[in-house]
Formats: sequence, C-alpha cells, structure tokens
Amino acid sequence: MNKISIAIDGPAAAGKSTVAKIIAEKLHYIYIDTGAMYRALTFKALQSEIDINDEESLIPLLKETEIVLNPGESGQRILLDGIDVSTEIRTAEVTNSVSTVSKHKQVREEMVARQQRFGQEGGVVMDGRDIGTHVLPDAEVKVFLLASVDERAARRHAENLEKGFPSDLALLKEEIAKRDKLDSEREVAPLKKAEDAVELDTTSLSIHEVVDRIMKLVEERI
Ligand code: C5P
Repeated sequence: MNKISIAIDGPAAAGKSTVAKIIAEKLHYIYIDTGAMYRALTFKALQSEIDINDEESLIPLLKETEIVLNPGESGQRILLDGIDVSTEIRTAEVTNSVSTVSKHKQVREEMVARQQRFGQEGGVVMDGRDIGTHVLPDAEVKVFLLASVDERAARRHAENLEKGFPSDLALLKEEIAKRDKLDSEREVAPLKKAEDAVELDTTSLSIHEVVDRIMKLVEERI
C-alpha cells in the first residue's frame, strides 16, 4: 500500500496531537509532534537562562541540541539530549514562552529541515502550525482542525483535571487566545490553513468522529 504523508495543522489545543496519534497508530505510520520540538528548545533555553527574544543565542543552542521523538508504550516520549522531558515541556512556563522562540526565522529553518528529514520516507502523520504550508507542502492529505476558544479551553481544562494538574479555565482561555494570536500574526510561517487543506471544525465532534473523517480522506489517497 502507498505510504502517504498526512499534515494536521490548527490552533492551540484543537486536538491535533490526540487525533494525529490515533491515525498514525491505525496506519502504522510515524507520528511527529512538531510542537514538542519547539517546546523542547524553549525548555532548554529557559533552563540555560538564554534570552528567548535573542535569535543569535538560540541558534547555536539549537544546533547543539538533539531532540528525539520516541514512540513508547505510554505515548510519545520527548528526549532532549538523551533526557526524557515529556512532562517538563508541558508546563505553563514553557507554554507561555514557546511562541516567542518559534517566531524566529533561523530557528524555524533548522526545525523545518529536521522535520522534513523525519518525513522524507512518507508514512508520516505530522502535526503543527505550518506543516501543510511549509514542512510538507506536497502532503497527500492536509487537514486544518478548528474549534472555538471556549471549546478548546474546556477540553484542556478537563484533561488537566483528569491528570491531577491544577487548572484555571479562565486563564487557559486567555493563554490559548494569546498563543493563537502570536502564532497567527508572526512574520515567518504563521499559523494558516494551506489552500489545499480540508478544514474541519471539531467544536461539536467527538475525537472518534474527527478520526473517521480524516481516515476517509486518507482512504481516498492510498
Ligand atoms: O502544538 P503545540 O501547542 O505543542 O505547539 C507549541 C508551540 O510551538 C505553538 O504555539 C507554536 O508557537 C509552535 N509551533 C510552531 N510550528 C509548528 C508547531 C508548533 O510554531 N509546526
């Protein structure tokens, strides 16, 4: 069977990673969470006390940084220079800084090059903000997932509570809206639907329904 590339983009907390992971499992494809790569660099920059506004300092840091996305039994593990930082990259501190790190042109060039190497063989489901527009412009299936800010904040809130993390719904809503604004308005590769992407509003759909709709698009292409 033909191994295709699947690009899933959309705003923060739209359910991209949940859906991408399930689809990758169903197809026995590799799943690449590109947001985790920007998060890992952000975590390292904060730890190293590097100014996240300073592109000239971030670039050498990124060049000497190894980021491995490692599938494991409990989902994807993110290894930063060999150390598992899967939990650390999801903290509010990293989440509130990552859009600053990801706005830099040279940071994006290096990340995109790495992501394209991961995807070069096909058989990949990649999620992010610029996958359909820049990373995998020739992907056979491109999906742009949308949901209202209220719905996305409510989902993330429920997820946090389930994991036993502290969570403030109003604050989450504010943070998600702020991150969307930064990601959509940045100069380099902003969050944007690719012209040939299929838009899917998931506000009133279950995960199962979203997966089904994407699988239909996939089946048409393999
Ligand atoms: O997907 P996630 O919410 O983990 O992404 C974290 C951040 O990484 C985004 O808010 C965005 O600033 C950045 N990002 C990006 N391009 C991607 C994936 C993520 O700029 N392809």
